[in-house]
Formats: sequence, structure tokens, C-alpha cells
Amino acid sequence: MSKPRVLVTRPVPEKGLERLRAVCDVHVYQSKLPPSRDVLLREIADCEGILSLLTDPIDAEVMSAAPRLKVISNMAVGYDNVDVKAATERKIPVGHTPGVLTETSADLAFALLMAAARRLGEGERYVKSGQWVTWSPQLLLGYDIYGATLGIVGFGRIGQAVARRARGFGMQILYHGGSNQQTAQALGAQERTLDQLLAESDFISLHVPFKNATHHLIGERELHLMKRTAILINTARGPVVDPHALYEALSSGVIAYAALDVTEPEPIHMDDPLLTLDNCLIVPHIGSSTVATREKMASIAAANLIAGLQGEKLPHCVNPQVYD
Ligand code: DGY
Repeated sequence: MSKPRVLVTRPVPEKGLERLRAVCDVHVYQSKLPPSRDVLLREIADCEGILSLLTDPIDAEVMSAAPRLKVISNMAVGYDNVDVKAATERKIPVGHTPGVLTETSADLAFALLMAAARRLGEGERYVKSGQWVTWSPQLLLGYDIYGATLGIVGFGRIGQAVARRARGFGMQILYHGGSNQQTAQALGAQERTLDQLLAESDFISLHVPFKNATHHLIGERELHLMKRTAILINTARGPVVDPHALYEALSSGVIAYAALDVTEPEPIHMDDPLLTLDNCLIVPHIGSSTVATREKMASIAAANLIAGLQGEKLPHCVNPQVYD
């Protein structure tokens, strides 16, 4: 019997590919860049499964281009690139990779928090550009982390993992959205409305999924509610923050600093004004980017894909209604 053909939209860690090759005819799109729309529509045509990445818009047109498609497996915890409604209408299960990237993503959020507070990006540029001529009492003054208040917007798995790190740094923790009170109590976190959290926090870290309700959740009004010394960290999704409002706020001293792992658009355009600001630290969406975590993500994505091909429930399914 011939193996089902599956498309993997970019080279992913071998751990996942090995699992797939055992049961599928695996076609890996070999490129540094995501497949273009035309290529994606062509490549998926005779596939029964797709292992997609957050850079691949998997919408109704893509699904319709693949009449034999049985499963969509997204190698990410977020799945805003997949039209889940269209998949559900077609009874196609959609998989994702929660859990395995929680701690790694929280590490990056905390790394950004610390890097922004202590102005590490600026410090490195200062040294490498030959400006370091002496120790100076007023050089690159930053903000204390110990004893500061951290507001976590979206207190799910990753938000809670950030809170655990913050406890070790003696921070006060506020949260908004996404937790039961018992978990919050165990972490010493206090609930606030979004507006209260923005007004009271020294650091604000975003951990909400991207959907209509969170589009530009942080805009001009919200930025103006923050302290002038506030530091905003976004490791969730770029469009959760209005980039124009953020530029205005950072360049006019409405808030002190931003550290972004995600931008709108992605990748950020080289003429984006945010890139001109010393008080905006930007890294290229590397929240889950460690060897071990990406291997685990690839492995789970493979397991989801294989389950879908074999007509079994996906271990991590975002639309379990397809089984009703
Ligand atoms: C995700 O998984 O959604 C992250 O953004 C990338 O790992």
C-alpha cells in the first residue's frame, strides 16, 4: 500500500521528520523562506496532511486546493495562521504543539524583560562601537527588577511560567485574564482589570493568543495608562500591539522601553521607525527557539499529523468538535 503524501512547509528538526518518514511519503519544501501562495496551492494538491508553520496562511482556499486533506498540523502553540473554522467545516482536525514550549518561551520573555530593564542591547552597541572609554556614574542607567511590579496579560501556561520566574526575582505579580484563582493564589499573583494592571505595573508582559478581540489590545489609550517608566514586553503575537501607537509612546516618553519578540508585520520592515529607537529592543520571533524545544515541537507536530492520517484523535487538537 502506498504511503500517504504529506507536505512539510520547511525543513524542521530531524526528530519530527524521522517519525513522519516511517509512515508517510514526506515532501519537505526545501527553502529558507515559506512557500509562496502559488507554490503552497500547488504542493498541497495531492497531500493528505500538512505540517505547517506559523508563517503559512492555511485558509479555505488552501484546504480546497487539497481535496484529500485529512489533517493540518501546525508546529506552534499559536494557530492564528490557520482558518480553524474552515477546517472544522470540512471536518479536518487541526493540531498544535502546546506544553513543550512553555518554559522556553517564558525564559525568552524574562530574558527580554531583563535585557530591557538593564539596557543590554544599548550596552553592547556602546562597547562594540568603541564608546567605552571609562566607568561612568551615569552610564546606561536602567530599572530595578527586584521588588518591581510585573503585570502579566494572559495568565495561561506561558504567563504563569513567567510569574514563577518573577517570584524568584522578588517581583509583585499582577495578572489579567486566563487563570483560575487557585493557580493565581499559589503563584502569589493578584487579579486586576486590564486598565488597573497597565496603570500599576512597572513591567507588562503579553501572553494572549492573537484573535479579533486581541487585535491592537495595546494601543494609544492603553499605552497612556502605563507609567512613564513602564517597560512593555511582547512575546505573544505582533498585532496584539499597535506598532504606530507604540512608536509614538516610545519616542515621546509616554513609556520607557519595549522589548519585542514579535512584530506587525513580521518580519519587521527595515524602514519601520521602531528600528530607529534605542529604547526598543527587537529579536526575530525566537521565543521557542532552543534545540531541545524545537525538536519536541517537531515531534509533537509529527504525532498530530500521523494520528490525523490514521483517523485517530490528535494528541493536541484545537478543534475537537470535528470528532462530534
Ligand atoms: C508559537 O509556538 O506559537 C510561537 O510563537 C513559536 O514557537
